Amino acid sequence: MNSPEKTHTIPSAWLEPSAQPLEIDFGCHRGAFLIGMAALHPVSNFLGIEKQSDRVNKCNTRALRLGLSNAAAIQGLGVEALTILPSFSVSTFHLYFPDPWPKRRHSSRRVFQKNFLSEIRRILRPDGVLRLMTDDGPYFAEMRELTCEGWLEISWDDGRECVLTAFEKTFRNRGQIPHQAALKPV
Ligand SMILES: C[S@@+](CC[C@H](N)C(=O)[O-])C[C@H]1O[C@@H](n2cnc3c(N)ncnc32)[C@H](O)[C@@H]1O
Repeated sequence: MNSPEKTHTIPSAWLEPSAQPLEIDFGCHRGAFLIGMAALHPVSNFLGIEKQSDRVNKCNTRALRLGLSNAAAIQGLGVEALTILPSFSVSTFHLYFPDPWPKRRHSSRRVFQKNFLSEIRRILRPDGVLRLMTDDGPYFAEMRELTCEGWLEISWDDGRECVLTAFEKTFRNRGQIPHQAALKPV
C-alpha cells in the first residue's frame, strides 16, 4: 500500500481535460466532509487543502484505507495554495467554517478576502459553484459584501446527497443554524 505522504500532491490525472469534476474542500480539517462526499460521489474528485500537516495525513490515510481513489488532501496555506491550480479547473469550491478571527484587530487574518475570491474566480469553471458556510454572522456579512458583484446566488440544495462537515455537526447539535450561500460567477 502507498504511504499517505506519497499522495501529498494533486494527482496529475485530476487536472487533465478528460478528468471528472474537481471539487475543493478548503480547510478540510480531518476530512469528515471530504471523505464522506468522495464515498457518496465517485463521479467527482475531491481535493482537500489544509494548513496542518497532521490533518492532511489523516485525510490521506482514511482515503487509502477506504480505497477512495477520488479523495486526496494536500498541505497549503491561504491564497498561495490556490495559485497551483490551473484556471477553470474546479467545478465546486467548498469553504466551510473558515477560522472566523472574531476580534476586530485579527480580522485581517481571515482567509476570505478580495485576493482569495479572485483566485477562486480564476480557478472555477464558468459553470462552477462557490459554496460558503459559517456560523459567524459578521464574517458571513463580509463574504456576501465581497460577492455582491459578479456572483449570483443560487439554491443551496444542488440535488445531491450531502454530508455534514465536522463543525457543522457540532453547531447543529447545539441547535445553531449556519449561514450558507451557493454562488455562481456571472
Ligand atoms: C474551523 S475549521 C473547519 C473545518 C471544516 N471545514 C469543517 O467545516 O468542519 C478550519 C480549518 O481550516 C484550516 N485552516 C485555517 N486557516 C487556513 C488557511 N489559511 N489555509 C489553509 N487551511 C486553513 C484549519 O487548520 C482547520 O482545519
